[in-house]
Amino acid sequence: MAARPDGWPTAETFELATVEVPAPADGQVLVRNTLMSVDPYMRGRMNDVESYVAPFEVGKALEGGAIGEVVESRSPRWSVGDTVLHGLGWRDYALLDADHAVRVDPAAAPVSTYLGILGMTGLTAYAGLVGVARLRPGETVFVSGAAGAVGSAVGQFARLLGAGRVVGSAGSAEKVRYLTDELGFDAAFDYHDGPVARQLRAAAPDGIDVYFDNVGGEHLEAAIGSMNRFGRAAICGMISGYNDTEPAAAPRNLARLIGWRLTLRGFLVRDHGDLRGEFVERAGGWLAGGELSYRETFADGLTNAPAAFLDMMRGGNIGKMLVRLSTTD
Ligand SMILES: NC(=O)c1ccc[n+]([C@@H]2O[C@H](COP(=O)([O-])OP(=O)(O)OC[C@H]3O[C@@H](n4cnc5c(N)ncnc54)[C@H](OP(=O)(O)O)[C@@H]3O)[C@@H](O)[C@H]2O)c1
Repeated sequence: MAARPDGWPTAETFELATVEVPAPADGQVLVRNTLMSVDPYMRGRMNDVESYVAPFEVGKALEGGAIGEVVESRSPRWSVGDTVLHGLGWRDYALLDADHAVRVDPAAAPVSTYLGILGMTGLTAYAGLVGVARLRPGETVFVSGAAGAVGSAVGQFARLLGAGRVVGSAGSAEKVRYLTDELGFDAAFDYHDGPVARQLRAAAPDGIDVYFDNVGGEHLEAAIGSMNRFGRAAICGMISGYNDTEPAAAPRNLARLIGWRLTLRGFLVRDHGDLRGEFVERAGGWLAGGELSYRETFADGLTNAPAAFLDMMRGGNIGKMLVRLSTTD
């Protein structure tokens, strides 16, 4: 990261640096990265503010989920050729302590799924529905950012967990078609087509019981306005405000929480590691059985990682946004 952004990141926020790759010391491995993830939370880490995770440092490589192959090992745990998941993306080669890598089985599922539907974003969707909102069969679920990595998993998991009606919002007609025609959403709308509150009332005339919030702002206000008594919102993200320099005006209807006895609960996927085992088992089973599908949007090469990140923040992705690395080796 070359400079901290104020508002939207620009080309000046990033710099591609070439440095010597050190040889691994005892207990370390050298990994050639093949895939890296770009995620909305990375925008938050570009700010120098107190948060649940330390900010990125100016002049140092950014970090994030990545998958690669061990090319040198000085640990008995790892052999050359092993495929690993780890947290040092945004670079072609990563030098890791052996216990900072997690084994990935390329025979079990495509390795990219460990950064998406079977990985962090999939677990986020599952934890929000099961651990936070405590979805019950028959309930109506609304998810914003529904064609993205987390949102597309939320809609499908909700259906598989017995939701009565699943409604989603996304940013284009193509995404809306993807939700209804491919993922089995009962209704979906493009939030550019009119006020979210009005479109949501039309899509869920009997109200919603669970709101999975990826967007915040106008979406959250609309969801609160459509919630049935004792409704619950899993507050996962508020991407509509991540590049704002002024706080959002909405939601303005928080008083409704009282009369309707609503619960809004923020959560972080990292606090739901206890659900990982059951999540991997269920989602892996749904995927293998053809009941769950996923899409990925790829960019190629580290040079294009900043553009891929910005493209994802602007809605250029369907499903998980990933960058393929070391593709020319
Ligand atoms: N709490 C946690 O532990 C946790 C973990 C992972 C992710 N998250 C959060 O979950 C959300 C989704 O993350 P993801 O990784 O799955 O990303 P994603 O949905 O795959 O990509 C981001 C999407 O946000 C949408 N977006 C951008 N600006 C918007 C706006 N102003 N209004 C409405 N939608 C907008 C875009 O789709 P459109 O074309 O539809 O606009 C874009 O595709 C983010 O808020 C993220 O911070 C939270």
